Amino acid sequence: MSEEQGGTIEGLLNETRTYEPSASFTSAANINDPDVYRRASEDPEGFWAEIAGELDWYEKWNTVMDWNPPWVKWFDGGKLNVSYNCVDRHIKGWRRTKAAIIWEGEPGDERILTYQDLYREVNQAANMLKRLGVEKGDRVAIYLPMIPELPITMLACARIGAPHSVVFGGFSPDSLADRINDCGAKVVVTSDGGYRRGSVVPLKDNADRAVENTPNVEKMVVVQRLGRHVHPVRMRTGRDVWWHDAIQAGNGGYCEPEQLDSEHPLYILYTSGTTGKPKGLLHTTGGYLVGAYLTSKWVLDLKDEDIYWCTADIGWVTGHSYIVYGPLANGATTVMYEGAPDYPDKDRFWDIVERRAVTVLYSAPTAIRGFMRWGAEHVERHDLSSIRLLGTVGEPINPEAWIWYREHIGRNETPVVDTWWQTETGAVMIGGLPGITTMKPGSASHPFPGIEPDVVDAQGESVPLGQGGFLIIRKPWPAISRTVWGDDERYVEQYFSKFTPDIYFTGDGARRDEDGYYWLMGRVDDVLNIAGHRLGTMELESALVSHPSVAEAAVIGVSHDLKGQAVAAFVTPRGNVEPTWDLAEELRQHVADKIGPIARPDRIYFTAELPKTRSAKIMRRLLRDVAEGRVVGDTTTLTDPSVLEDIKKQYEGTEE
Ligand code: WTA
Repeated sequence: MSEEQGGTIEGLLNETRTYEPSASFTSAANINDPDVYRRASEDPEGFWAEIAGELDWYEKWNTVMDWNPPWVKWFDGGKLNVSYNCVDRHIKGWRRTKAAIIWEGEPGDERILTYQDLYREVNQAANMLKRLGVEKGDRVAIYLPMIPELPITMLACARIGAPHSVVFGGFSPDSLADRINDCGAKVVVTSDGGYRRGSVVPLKDNADRAVENTPNVEKMVVVQRLGRHVHPVRMRTGRDVWWHDAIQAGNGGYCEPEQLDSEHPLYILYTSGTTGKPKGLLHTTGGYLVGAYLTSKWVLDLKDEDIYWCTADIGWVTGHSYIVYGPLANGATTVMYEGAPDYPDKDRFWDIVERRAVTVLYSAPTAIRGFMRWGAEHVERHDLSSIRLLGTVGEPINPEAWIWYREHIGRNETPVVDTWWQTETGAVMIGGLPGITTMKPGSASHPFPGIEPDVVDAQGESVPLGQGGFLIIRKPWPAISRTVWGDDERYVEQYFSKFTPDIYFTGDGARRDEDGYYWLMGRVDDVLNIAGHRLGTMELESALVSHPSVAEAAVIGVSHDLKGQAVAAFVTPRGNVEPTWDLAEELRQHVADKIGPIARPDRIYFTAELPKTRSAKIMRRLLRDVAEGRVVGDTTTLTDPSVLEDIKKQYEGTEE
């Protein structure tokens, strides 16, 4: 563990408050028999197979799990279709007229799609994609705002067996192009734009710039979200088609779902790692759906009467698993909101909760800290009595934020589930079961049934309770990502080589307390967590050095009250470039242009040199020490110890 986390660990381990679910919550919960933990750990395959049996399969599997470390297959031989399970299955009975998606646009417009509506739209979109030449196995890139066409396109892709790759609408043209090229998408689905904090996000303009550098792209489908009067876009003849035209070209109608192998690729989702470009994690069909389905049912306790809202963006894995696939596989009602939490006012979320009578809310620590700062008066203006369960994901939640969430949003009554997982894990891995677990604020509590994590030292040996170490997972689970798209080696290298090939390394540090509760301590590698979003230091550094004035750059995460971590960049300018305030501004903007606004560094520090070891490795630990105002650690391996003094002076000079 890095030394800077020491203080936090001690603080967290002194947390003694506990919260039990109420008897009424427990008795109504989807899962309330604690014996489930024993059953799942004694026979994980039997456990998962039983759950898989709750979904619809065209053909049953031959083997539940086929493990050849690190490679694994789940439900091999089985055939199913995710879109069938999320849509068709529900229109056979009374859910046909139930709301599947309640959508609210930022300007206040709304669309409510019943399962029957969703069925019709997914079928039409699937036929449209086929007419545009998309075949089973082809990749489709999706670059859309949070509008219903986003889940519709995902489900349409799943229906015809074309893996999708959703790219977050906040990413730049360069980031989009990299992702399109990496997965080789031949169709891009985008929109003329979306709304964010009252302004227009020009997605089509960005996509136009991206596809200048993506030779594979044959067609671009454009949803009209804004309209000509708000933001006109250029349509390129032969390549671009409007969604509303393309969808009507056929006569709508039914699109037979493909009967897909359980291991057929469902989607590719890019996430930052420790090296170079983001990697495309591949999720497949059967195992992923089982994981998303069951965790939604048990951790989020989704029931038919619920109005459930996950506030994430579908551009991230949380949205994939817990706005789209998990809730819809359960036949739940899922709320989708397009815009910002403070538009038109800081009570927008609570206004939505009240008007829609949201019962289960799944949000993130960074959002909660923002609400705390804005003040409880924005919450108190609204009746939130519909809420019965709260969830959180994305980064460690500090106990104070957990308690605030429960007190102000959950009336001091509802359970709060903190859920630890990753793009790679596909579904929740650690997080209590709200009808069973006694929660401790700040702890993700226990592994989900059937999941076997451990906390180990550098040799891979379990550490005693109370001690910190690396968080690993000892056995495969159905929703694990199967590989890095097009790069098996990188997958093995990144996740299965720190210890032995049967041990999955998460990249996180954790501690288990005396009661066996897990306390997550953040990344132990060069990945930052900025407001719940993953960014690699390498990616940020490459963006900085791509600027003509930069010779070298080192990026670190520094603690930040709202965002959890913020980006601080140490930059050595080229030759005779003057380090000015304007240049710092330009560099911040440059990174935002290259990657996306979420990557914009909070601070830039110019330095004539970076502290390096004799083997030319940048000593980030020392930069972190300087940035966080700690006594600088051992510098004896530095080539030139005076470098650090210079940086420190600079740093102190710029600190307000
Ligand atoms: C962090 C998001 C502590 C962690 C689903 C992980 C968390 C990374 C939690 C994955 C949590 C996520 N407590 N840390 N409840 N949830 N993390 O891939 O560092 O965007 O490795 O997936 O976020 O981020 P990702």
